[in-house]
Amino acid sequence: MNKFLLKDALEKGYAVGAFNFGSLEILKSIISAATLQNTPVIAQISESALEFMGKKYLKKIIKVARRNAQIPISFHFDHGKSFESVKTAIKMGCDSVMIDASMLPFEDNIAITKRVVDYAHKKGVYVEAELGSLAGIEDDIKVEDKNSCYTDPMQAQEFVKRTNVDSLAIAIGTKHGAYKFSGSAKLRFDILEQIEQAIPNTPLVLHGASGVDEEDVKKLLDLGVDITGARGVSEDILKKVSKTNICKINGDTDIRISYLLGILSHIRANKTNIDYRQYLGAGMAEVTKLVVKKFDIYGSVNMANND
Ligand code: G3H
Ligand code: 13P
Ligand code: ZN
Repeated sequence: MNKFLLKDALEKGYAVGAFNFGSLEILKSIISAATLQNTPVIAQISESALEFMGKKYLKKIIKVARRNAQIPISFHFDHGKSFESVKTAIKMGCDSVMIDASMLPFEDNIAITKRVVDYAHKKGVYVEAELGSLAGIEDDIKVEDKNSCYTDPMQAQEFVKRTNVDSLAIAIGTKHGAYKFSGSAKLRFDILEQIEQAIPNTPLVLHGASGVDEEDVKKLLDLGVDITGARGVSEDILKKVSKTNICKINGDTDIRISYLLGILSHIRANKTNIDYRQYLGAGMAEVTKLVVKKFDIYGSVNMANND
């Protein structure tokens, strides 16, 4: 797949679900969900997931998955922190890469993003960059709440013009990880609107968009996992977001929660089982169920092969 899925989403007013995977089991669960919903999907790999799975294995897995998939699947490198890591991802077969230099000063972010764009475009690979900072944990970099800053719409316009980047991750109030909000979830739709006006043809990306289902948090506690106080982005907000110029919605935390819940529930209910395929299979089924639901929320059901 080397088609820019986000342009279609921008034109038709839906969002493509982008889900992180760090194992074959998670990737297969995501593909199953996308196939069931007949939707395009983005499967993404972080730097640490790449290290965990191993470059050589991953390269083959991407090739096989792409060949066998019945829906448009795009492989994306998530939160690339350097030109070198992005180059590795391109060699591995990713269709698009993110260069995340959002923690650098504006001019430095522009310089590295432009360097990546110039390199990637020659290889037919699309580039996502980030402007503004999400609070919370991005890979191994911690951005304290107090230092987080929303994306400036005028800076976004200048950034896109000078870098020729294909999509832009923006900061409008989400956070990575399970603990996004202490009170009720609030996103800055006013800033989003200004960004849409400033760069109407650029697909936008929302990171830190997991929902962190309250019931799942309670069930996990009962199973011995304590993430009390975890809170994510509500379904209603995500539905609204999907209809805007946000064309890619990233999720990882929800997958981790569902997988764990499926595995632990299976272990508790099957005390004599020691076959990992049984409990991992139960985890995979939970992940598929979760991702199926996400496509409903994002409005991408039956959007595969729709042109
Ligand atoms: O946005 C970051 C993702 O959740 C990746 O996390 O580096 O632990 O794989 P990870
Ligand atoms: P969550 O932590 O909300 O799942 O966000 C993941 C993400 O943005 C990956 O890039
Ligand atoms: Zn992210």
